Amino acid sequence: MSAQAPIRRITAPQIRDRKGGDPIVSLTSYHAHTAAIVDKYADFILVGDSLGMVMHGMDSTIGVPLDLMIMHGKAVVRGTQAALIVVDMPFGTYEESPQMAFRNAARIMKETACGAVKLEGGARMAETIRFLSERGIPVMAHVGLTPQSVNTMGGFKVQGRDEAAWATHIDDAKAVAEAGAFALVVEGVVEELADRITAAVDIPTIGIGASKNCDGQILVLEDMLGLNPRVPKFVKIYGDLGPAIERAVSGYAEEVKDRSFPAPDNVYK
Ligand code: KIV
Repeated sequence: MSAQAPIRRITAPQIRDRKGGDPIVSLTSYHAHTAAIVDKYADFILVGDSLGMVMHGMDSTIGVPLDLMIMHGKAVVRGTQAALIVVDMPFGTYEESPQMAFRNAARIMKETACGAVKLEGGARMAETIRFLSERGIPVMAHVGLTPQSVNTMGGFKVQGRDEAAWATHIDDAKAVAEAGAFALVVEGVVEELADRITAAVDIPTIGIGASKNCDGQILVLEDMLGLNPRVPKFVKIYGDLGPAIERAVSGYAEEVKDRSFPAPDNVYK
């Protein structure tokens, strides 16, 4: 018998049960030590494929490989104890068939020890969400502005500006909820559409650039910390780490140049 008490994390069913309750707090994280800080405050942490853009300088999430998601997923699981860890399935790893999605989702779950996966798409992904959920893989869905569809959407465009499209977005949300998704990210949609989606489904909606009335909110950590040079308009900046890092790096560079580094008590005698 192990002498260590097992780690008790928040589970996907516990997140699902928060529909209409206390707002769900979530952030992305891609690094063990920042995830350890986020873990104190977040109900779930998403290892999102936005890491391709905010950590690896890509223009979109399309080029993110599965192995990179697994590598960052492992780091975040290692750094955390309490939050549910959700790992994004990157573009090209799940759309082709439910069987392909299961193989790749199972790899993510086995290799990272995360508690759930997320994938993008509404009604067209319902069969896959059912297939995974019925086989032990909790799935968070993602509708509205789905960044992996940037090429068919013609850019990162707010969805639902035209009311005629609302019914399709609401049907997408209902389809993934009925298929067994435990929660639903609603990204980049006009506020009233986000509110209607929240009212239409019995699973929690997690808003990003959507509405304060969603059941929870998520932000990309690097965006809210001021570490991404291309922050989306809707993001409130809570930290100013870009300039703070620049101050630290330029201070160090000056000291190296004028030979005042290292300080005398910083060297081995
Ligand atoms: O990849 C990501 O960071 C996401 C969030 C925007 C929800 O999917």
